Amino acid sequence: MIIPGAETQAFAAALSEAADEPLGRVEYERFADGEHVVRVPEAVAGERAVVVASTVDSDAHVQLLQLQDAVREAGASEVVTVVPYMGYARQDEAFREGEPVSSRAMARAISTGTDRVVTVNPHEPAVCDFFTVPATNVDAAGVLAEPLPDSLADPLFLSPDEGAIELAETVRDEYGGGETDFFEKDRDYDSGDIEIRPSDAAVAGRDVVLVDDIIATGSTMSESVAVLNERDAERVYVTCVHPMLASNALTKLSSAGVESVYGTDTLERVVSEVSAAPVVAREL
Ligand code: R5P
Repeated sequence: MIIPGAETQAFAAALSEAADEPLGRVEYERFADGEHVVRVPEAVAGERAVVVASTVDSDAHVQLLQLQDAVREAGASEVVTVVPYMGYARQDEAFREGEPVSSRAMARAISTGTDRVVTVNPHEPAVCDFFTVPATNVDAAGVLAEPLPDSLADPLFLSPDEGAIELAETVRDEYGGGETDFFEKDRDYDSGDIEIRPSDAAVAGRDVVLVDDIIATGSTMSESVAVLNERDAERVYVTCVHPMLASNALTKLSSAGVESVYGTDTLERVVSEVSAAPVVAREL
């Protein structure tokens, strides 16, 4: 039975359909002091329970741990935890003295309540090593090719930094043709300012598909779009697996003059045009 977190209900429904596994109806409540409490269906006794929760914020983290505990308490025979978007995954090392490796702390906590974990495109796949139970990383980038028109002009699949080039290659392969390339990116750790150093790829008159694992503040993508506009790219499509879209990210991108912005449903946003659930279903 699929057991959804409150922030991941659409993804869980899509996963239920793709995996042909029933969808449990969970109740989410809060006590007067703000503490969460969840209630899962009793029908999970003796069954495999698949807890599906993106840890999009601290509340979602708490709910995930509660869901794991509730299905165990209800007698689930096995607990699988699917984390479509894993929060804190980008804090995968202690960047400055005195800081924690937050993704390790989160992974350890999640591991205590499950038999195995499935994540989708964490920022660094090595994050899976932090879980203390078997963990699988699913690459859902291929579904980002689905909304693209068949008629892209001499397409260039471009990642804003070298770390995401494999995602761009995956989208290109699924699309069925085109070149790939990457820009170089520097981020000022304190101010968050982004500097994009473009490659020498010719973009004038071409359709460009930007691909990244996540759009958070939108700075990386909007700076990349500005460079492409300066160089007379034709249409620019901005795509990512995890459309976090914090603060005014969507406005930044819309005003940058892009053809479209979209991502998957690992985070449920207005731009979640394609579902990563069928890819995850294959790992269940
Ligand atoms: C970092 O390297 C990631 O791949 C993304 O490029 C980054 O997290 C995007 O962040 P933002 O949207 O805040 O620029």
